[in-house]
Amino acid sequence: MSVFGRHLMGALFVAALSVGGRISSSAQGLGEIKLNCQNTPCDSVARGRAAFNDGKLQGLGGNGRSCADCHVPSESFQLSPAVARARFEALLARRAVNKNADDPLFRPIDADDFREHGDRANDYSNLVENGLMRVTLPLPPNVRLINPATCRTPDPIACRPIGETSVDVWRAVMPVNNVAITGPDGVPPIWPPAPRVAIMGIDPNGPNRQGGYQHDARFGTLQEQARGALLAHAQVTFEPPAGMLDDLAAFQRTLFSSPAAGVLAGAIASGSTMFPDPDPELTELERRGKVVFNRSCAQCHGGVLHPSGSTSDAGIPRPIRARYHNIQTACPRPASDGFAPCPPRLARNARLYRVMLADGSYQFVTTSDPGRLLLTGQPADLGAMDVTQLRGISRTAPYFHNNSAATLEQVLDHYDAFFRFVVSQFAPANLPAIVSSNGTVVDRGFIAPEERPALLAYLNKL
Ligand code: HEC
Ligand code: HEC
Repeated sequence: MSVFGRHLMGALFVAALSVGGRISSSAQGLGEIKLNCQNTPCDSVARGRAAFNDGKLQGLGGNGRSCADCHVPSESFQLSPAVARARFEALLARRAVNKNADDPLFRPIDADDFREHGDRANDYSNLVENGLMRVTLPLPPNVRLINPATCRTPDPIACRPIGETSVDVWRAVMPVNNVAITGPDGVPPIWPPAPRVAIMGIDPNGPNRQGGYQHDARFGTLQEQARGALLAHAQVTFEPPAGMLDDLAAFQRTLFSSPAAGVLAGAIASGSTMFPDPDPELTELERRGKVVFNRSCAQCHGGVLHPSGSTSDAGIPRPIRARYHNIQTACPRPASDGFAPCPPRLARNARLYRVMLADGSYQFVTTSDPGRLLLTGQPADLGAMDVTQLRGISRTAPYFHNNSAATLEQVLDHYDAFFRFVVSQFAPANLPAIVSSNGTVVDRGFIAPEERPALLAYLNKL
């Protein structure tokens, strides 16, 4: 188990709801997007849609990429490994007859696995095998990458840092559907429970304590996010105009996994305290699944005020009110509690980190993704990711920030191990609300075998 195993939950927050548009359009397929512009300025949405699909970005000097190259409209605006592989194979086939054949998905800036290849990219295996993009993030000043050859056992003197100030992690392309409800949630955080000690002057809570965009919520607005995407993925060389960022945000706020999710987003944006339930009509089995979901999953994914919006039942207690959690999805996984070990294609993305604590001592950790730790420098944030929204989840496999669960079945297997892990970490009288509503009896997390079909049926209906 990692040295930070005890710090199970990282959680943070702030900011008001930034949900704007009230229009709802179920957009499936590039040519078929039907805009329904009753309430927001239609021209901004239309311009945003054009910008989203525009690989030329005239005047900005990009690399031929559009947002839609990765957020594929016909794929719920995300990217599956199957699509990445099919495009790669098609590109190779075209290259066989035309050496200039091109697909802007494959740009070395983030599609090649190894930055040392520079512009001569030749390894797209994380993209083609895992559907993951390379994301480069700065290291906080108290965090160093360690050369594993010098560090067979964690030793503050022997283990030598590599002189890098940034690190590459590999992350799944998130669906843009429902971004109107995935940003900051306005729910007062209860984590961290006690004030944290800043390390080397870094804000110990990091940005966006009440949620944001990206797997680690490092962006607080869709505009900030779009600017980051244009710089990092499309390699624009001129500052993107603010109006274009507003248009992109306006367009994305019209994208929902179902019209009912759009109606919920509208209600949240209007400041209403009454929320429509976005669930479609449920069968008896799905209704039973919803009861299981509300018991086992809604403590993180649900509740009316949470943008996950997976349930709108006002009566559901959401005692955790923590937006960020480490649910042990990064690699390697704990060897205990029945976690599925990471396959080599994912395990190879792990790096060895040295984290300096406030008292000057060091901790070492090996992980494929430090999550919010890269924003705060706090060991308690190791692996902490933003809670994902689950609407339309049946159409966006594989799952988790590293696409490590191929199916919803595997997601449930993972949670089975995770809940066991939580129980094994805490003394019986002090169980966290993830698994226990009263601190002593495990009555939340675990899914009984006979409950599984019902929960799966409900998840597939979201
Ligand atoms: C090279 C592929 C790629 C391109 C091009 C791209 N994105 Fe993304 N997008 C990603 C990845 C990967 C993530 C998750 C990154 C992370 O968590 O660090 C993401 C995350 C997002 C999110 C966050 C969703 C959420 O719920 O938090 C939004 C919104 C988004 N992208 C919009 C855009 C827009 C707008 C553009 C074009 C300006 C764009 N993206 C271009 C790969 C891409
Ligand atoms: C302790 C809080 C917590 C609990 C409890 C929890 N989740 Fe999650 N869930 C998360 C976090 C955090 C993520 C993002 C993790 C990542 O990307 O690696 C996530 C991600 C997911 C995803 C992947 C979404 C995607 O787009 O890839 C699914 C599916 C999911 N959870 C379903 C469930 C189900 C079903 C349950 C109940 C059995 C549940 N969760 C219980 C915190 C939780």
